[in-house]
Amino acid sequence: MSDSQNARAASLSHLHSARLAKGDPLSTPIVMSSVFHLPGDPAGFRQYGRFDNPTWEAVEAALAHLEDAGTVSFPSGMAAISSVFLALLSAGDRVLLPADGYYTPRVLLEKHLSRLGILYDTRPTASFLEGGFEDYRMVLIETPSNPGLDVCDIAAVAKAAHEHGAIVVADNTTMTPFGQRPLDLDADIVLAADTKAINGHSDVLFGHVASRDSALIGAVRDWRKLSGNIPGPFEAWLVLRGIETLELRFDRMCSSAETIATRLAEHPAIKALRYPGLAGDPSHALSRTQMLRFGSLIGLTLETEEKAEAFINTCPLLEATTSFGGVHSSAERRARWGDDVAEGFVRLSIGCEPTEALWAPIETALNGL
Ligand SMILES: Cc1ncc(COP(=O)(O)O)c(C=O)c1O
Repeated sequence: MSDSQNARAASLSHLHSARLAKGDPLSTPIVMSSVFHLPGDPAGFRQYGRFDNPTWEAVEAALAHLEDAGTVSFPSGMAAISSVFLALLSAGDRVLLPADGYYTPRVLLEKHLSRLGILYDTRPTASFLEGGFEDYRMVLIETPSNPGLDVCDIAAVAKAAHEHGAIVVADNTTMTPFGQRPLDLDADIVLAADTKAINGHSDVLFGHVASRDSALIGAVRDWRKLSGNIPGPFEAWLVLRGIETLELRFDRMCSSAETIATRLAEHPAIKALRYPGLAGDPSHALSRTQMLRFGSLIGLTLETEEKAEAFINTCPLLEATTSFGGVHSSAERRARWGDDVAEGFVRLSIGCEPTEALWAPIETALNGL
């Protein structure tokens, strides 16, 4: 990690204490209140629970510190994504999406936003720069894409899309601000499902949107207030608690993923393997230029659906769950949701278990196929 990333990680745990008055609790309280004591002129004070909440403010301060940008929190990753669409797009606007990224934004546009006149096209992440950006008001990238782990050049997409006035949004869920910093590469907005690694404990859904453009982030904040798409204070508190160990968790997860991907590449049961950190991966050269770590997700393909299911279900240290980024390793056959991947493709999410203790049962399960 660079010095600035180390400094950011170190000061994160002390953000709250810097604002304490003598006698205040050191840990951030959960403020469960829909209203605030508000006699007389309300200007400049907390007014109502749909507008403000001190626990959101605390988690937003932590996320803003990590992103180095104004941040608005949401009750899920999809709430963050849908709010960016609804706050910033109008009838007649077109959005460009990754064809191979998380599928729900495509379904949302198809089923609902198209009724409001917001249209979309898709393009594979690996060839995202091909085809021009002149038709788009907004360009959403997801790199590495989930689940295929293809990569696109964030700075090059931002430059080309900005030439046509498009807003460039990066879904950084798979990487976190410790693995990749799209705003430093000229994206206008970064967003994430904090449900995954940022919270990391698989006990809450959450999301955030961050931008250094005050008009963009102001519009998203206003949308949240008016639409009521607000997170709960308890959920905000859980995420705040998760963030305190993010750097430590993500470091272990990425280091283990690098070791395990290298060993999987040698294993005869593996028919195909994707991990941006592998020297032979098609995305490796580009990943080295824009990623700070190579992430905690590995895409591996086994011969058949049956073998993939047997691998997931016989390895005692892999939770058979959807989602990723938790402290526990997990695995899922993504074709079961209709993703455009082989039937035997498994998305492996490496957790925080000690590396060798995790590798041993993974290897045993593969040997038994
Ligand atoms: C890349 C990505 N973005 C967004 C989301 C949506 O997050 P949530 O499930 O918290 O709404 C997901 C969920 O899997 C995801 O993988």
